[in-house]
Amino acid sequence: MGPLPPAFYTKMRHRWLFLGACCLVLLNLYLVVKIISHRAVDEYKERLGVQSTTVPGNTSRKLPLPTAEKTVSLQPDQSSAAPTIDEWDSVNDKRLQLLSTVCKNSTLRNLTHTPINKFVLDRIFVSDKHNILFCQTPKVGNTQWKKVLITLDGAFSRVEEIPENLVHDDKKNGLRRLSSLTPQEITHRLRSYFKFFIVRDPFERLISAFSDKFVKNARFKLRYGHDIAPAIIRKYRRRDRDGERAASGLHFEDFVRYLGDIEGRRHLDPQFGKPIIHWMTYAELCAPCDIPYDVIGHHETLEQDAGYILKRAGIEHLVSYPAIPPGISRYNKTKIEHYFSGISKRDIRRLYARFQGDFDLFGYQKPYFLLN
Ligand SMILES: *[C@@H]1O[C@H](CO)[C@@H](O)[C@H](O)[C@H]1NC(C)=O
Ligand SMILES: *[C@@H]1O[C@H](CO)[C@@H](O)[C@H](O)[C@H]1NC(C)=O
Ligand SMILES: *[C@@H]1O[C@H](CO)[C@@H](O)[C@H](O)[C@H]1NC(C)=O
Ligand SMILES: *[C@@H]1O[C@H](CO)[C@@H](O)[C@H](O)[C@H]1NC(C)=O
Repeated sequence: MGPLPPAFYTKMRHRWLFLGACCLVLLNLYLVVKIISHRAVDEYKERLGVQSTTVPGNTSRKLPLPTAEKTVSLQPDQSSAAPTIDEWDSVNDKRLQLLSTVCKNSTLRNLTHTPINKFVLDRIFVSDKHNILFCQTPKVGNTQWKKVLITLDGAFSRVEEIPENLVHDDKKNGLRRLSSLTPQEITHRLRSYFKFFIVRDPFERLISAFSDKFVKNARFKLRYGHDIAPAIIRKYRRRDRDGERAASGLHFEDFVRYLGDIEGRRHLDPQFGKPIIHWMTYAELCAPCDIPYDVIGHHETLEQDAGYILKRAGIEHLVSYPAIPPGISRYNKTKIEHYFSGISKRDIRRLYARFQGDFDLFGYQKPYFLLN
């Protein structure tokens, strides 16, 4: 190998100068975007009259102190007979108490707290007739709850009569979102309405989102199949021995690596346009540490929670929750093990770190069987 020609070094220098300039431009852009988004949120808070981004709760709501045991069962035995409202009151109270403890834990702060901005208010549906607010969390039967609210509005007498295509058609279903009201109206409803949402095991939820958006009828989901999947594959698919990223659709492994890459997502997610609610955390969607919800139902005990929510909201004589097929909401460890088999511990730990807030806030046990 002889010495390289001088032209080579000139070319290299130009290349470095060019790279440096690019970095500067990017840095500037980033700062500008940051300033603008901060300002937008602040302006919104001002309009809302929310100073500290928390809303005072209904102080008359009874909240018994927690029993000292740390291992309270938040996933009660599903085989037991229908619980009385008092029994379920104590389950719900324990859940709310845990939530409030975790919300105060400063270590987890950036995974648990969310400003009450337009995005969060967009997630919350309003029933003014019955003073109810419902925060939408995808993949936990929220279509059924929307049907319940539509029925309450009076256009249909039973949930079974509502056509499927109407439920998600915001122009026709008659449901209002909290974001469509004035700041005073919003504050009033957040203070005094009955507020609830439903959660499920965070990893099961991600499996469900993956299979719904990238596997079932993937051809019809253009945003996911054409834009999002190829971008994730380009960045996260491991190359094979020939340096190729084998073709075929998104693998669960790619999805896990993407979700757990907090730094990488800061750059990638904005390219996907509006935020993707299907894999945002419950904390980001519903701001549970900043809005005083009355009930947080669990998908795993949906049967009991649905009945309890209808009673607490005072609507059990007006509407019933659609029939729940047996076993559909049960936690399935085998399924989780199956999806995560072959995925590196490092990638699973990163994924867990990203979703730890949701595990801790809602009492879902850390999946040791995947992490160790
Ligand atoms: C706060 O959360 C961290 C991480 O889960 C945990 O290790 C710690 O014990 C918690 N602190 C308190 C006071 O509960
Ligand atoms: C939360 O903050 C910690 C350090 O305070 C940081 O390492 C972590 O990446 C943050 N998580 C998110 C989701 O921003
Ligand atoms: C607060 O909750 C109590 C008990 O659940 C209820 O009776 C009362 O009407 C509520 N107050 C407001 C302002 O919603
Ligand atoms: C759990 O998931 C596995 C694998 O997907 C499936 O074969 C099995 O039927 C499921 N079990 C239950 C109880 O639904």
